[in-house]
Amino acid sequence: MPKIQRLPVHLANQIAAGEVIERPASVVKELVENALDANTTRIAVTVDLGGKKLLRVEDNGDGMGAEDARLAIERHATSKIATSDDLGAIRTLGFRGEALPSIASVSHFTLRTRARGEATGTEVKVDGGALTSVREIGAPEGTCIDVADLFYNLPARRKFLKSDTAETTQVSRLMTQMALGYPAVGFSLTSAGFATGSGHGRTLLECPPAAGLGERFFQLFGERPDLIEMRKEAAGLKIHGYIAALGDQGPVRGAQNVFVNRRIVKDRTIAHAISEAYTVATIKERSPEVHLFIEIAPDRVDVNVHPTKAEVRFLEQSLVHEVLRRGLGDALGQGRATELQFTPFSARPSEPQPMAIPGVLGGAIVGNRWAAQEMISAGRDIPSYGFSNARDGAAMQSPDSAATGGLPEIQGAAGLARGIDIRPMIPLGQFRDTFI
Ligand SMILES: Nc1ncnc2c1ncn2[C@@H]1O[C@H](COP(=O)(O)OP(=O)(O)O)[C@@H](O)[C@H]1O
Ligand SMILES: [Mg+2]
Repeated sequence: MPKIQRLPVHLANQIAAGEVIERPASVVKELVENALDANTTRIAVTVDLGGKKLLRVEDNGDGMGAEDARLAIERHATSKIATSDDLGAIRTLGFRGEALPSIASVSHFTLRTRARGEATGTEVKVDGGALTSVREIGAPEGTCIDVADLFYNLPARRKFLKSDTAETTQVSRLMTQMALGYPAVGFSLTSAGFATGSGHGRTLLECPPAAGLGERFFQLFGERPDLIEMRKEAAGLKIHGYIAALGDQGPVRGAQNVFVNRRIVKDRTIAHAISEAYTVATIKERSPEVHLFIEIAPDRVDVNVHPTKAEVRFLEQSLVHEVLRRGLGDALGQGRATELQFTPFSARPSEPQPMAIPGVLGGAIVGNRWAAQEMISAGRDIPSYGFSNARDGAAMQSPDSAATGGLPEIQGAAGLARGIDIRPMIPLGQFRDTFI
């Protein structure tokens, strides 16, 4: 009798949901991405009790025929890729074929859809991963998905959800980002009173289709004299953005929304380039507000890195870093960007591996205390990685760090430690503007 058994489909889907669906906002992200991939021009999202009671995402996109509507809730079923070549140059937001079955496995899920040009629509209902009904219905063209009682069958997950207000805020933030990425599409977010019976909704976001990014930006943020527009085109990269101006009080702090091919991403190379550009141009600012839209050929960036598709891997990481750093530098008016570097943006392998200390400058890179100590006893120089956005980071940058592409070294710390049995200081945390 073998010990290994295949997991039932609904369990496999719940495991997949564990990776992708953390909270109501993750459901909204996946459903809005699907609507955008289906060429919608309007997306209306409704949340009730922070999305815990109900989340509804309606679009007027391509819709699905009856057969597709049934297939859509099956694992690894997608219309977006077919071969591994397609995986090398993804042009859609989705491609994993996992979102709908995952969401349907942890909620009461209803899909109503009518394909463009078809006479009737289809309704598919799934409860906790089990298909309960499929029927023909009358429906407007497009797709409407209801996700009710999220995590009703995973109490451990449900417990981790925050207050209704906090979850609504996350959805609202997500919708703002999506709306920025797709100016031509109309977005609305309503907080409904279905659960409480009050019935009337409250509009949290309303953005009609806009003529371009500038107009969408205005719809979302109004006049922003504290931001400047930047554009840069080099080495096949196109960057457009609105970024914190230097200003008398320093650059305004705020969200860092970074889009790569209209996909919102979190990327360390980009974060580092932003921080470096601001460090050189002004005093340290931990989180200058930037909204950056980067366009790059899809075969030069890999989005198949993480199930949430929020991380990317650039084929030429240091090139992206450099083009962005120079673009930001030019816009900030520092005018002393050095020549393009093509060396890898990483620590030299023979040196102590940098480690990230959570909470310090959002995962800044610092020298590894233990590795450095070993090197002291071996009587060798101690390479020490400084904060890239230390107040006078530019002055502290060693002359060879540009050539090697390594992170800037703090000369003082390295020099001090040289030959003397003093351990280099590393920050353990930060209180206000002081490192401890
Ligand atoms: N709003 C929608 N409009 C039209 N088709 C949709 C919509 N949502 C999902 N689909 C179809 O269902 C499929 C499965 O969706 P999903 O599970 O999110 O996987 P993926 O987006 O990775 O393909 C999609 O490939 C698409 O064909
Ligand atoms: Mg999808």
